[in-house]
Amino acid sequence: MELIVDSADLAAIKEIDSLLTISGVTTNPSIVIKSGKYPEQAIGDILAYLRPDQKFFAQVVRTDFEGIMEEARAINALRPENTYAKIPVTREGMRAIKAAKQEGLNVLATGIHSAEQGFLAAMNGADYLAPYVNRMCNYGDGVERVIDLIEMVTVNGLDAKVMGASFHNVEEVHELIRVGIHALTLPPNIVSLMMEHPGTEKAVEEFSANWQAAYGRDHLFG
Ligand code: E4P
Repeated sequence: MELIVDSADLAAIKEIDSLLTISGVTTNPSIVIKSGKYPEQAIGDILAYLRPDQKFFAQVVRTDFEGIMEEARAINALRPENTYAKIPVTREGMRAIKAAKQEGLNVLATGIHSAEQGFLAAMNGADYLAPYVNRMCNYGDGVERVIDLIEMVTVNGLDAKVMGASFHNVEEVHELIRVGIHALTLPPNIVSLMMEHPGTEKAVEEFSANWQAAYGRDHLFG
């Protein structure tokens, strides 16, 4: 499974990358705005940091077909490889996904709110599908629908990878890892919630206190 950081906060990206095995970074317009930088700077900083084998996903902002295509080409041209244009699955976006793949561009279909939308984007050749898990839960069981999407892609022999996105709690993530989702893009706070547990901190504090009491020092060998 590919673990992706859903953030344009460079300090957070660097920290998570030092702690865990990270395959890349996703952004969207709201995430870029939140960085407090102009898009050129925010994206430039991330690209300057990522290794060439780590993937980068940036979202188009224009909503008309020609505009989406122009921005999808510009995003793909940012690096020689491993760079993907995120295209929302609107009508114009679906048309653009099909055309972009015919041009050989790397594409992630984003803003997916149903298994059907994801499946159709996969048929258009999208490399990745990003279902918005938490937002899908406003319309039904988002996690179940994403599991359906994984199955639809698999049984139909499509190449697209399902990248779960828009997570607001660890339980949604847990279930999708369990069923073998291909990729997850997670904001830093969800990564921290997955990694840390108060029980672990408590256990380590106990070991340290017991060691100090027994040997009068905080290290293993003298
Ligand atoms: C990632 O690619 C998505 O843009 C992101 O996860 C959306 O998250 P949100 O629903 O919290 O805005």
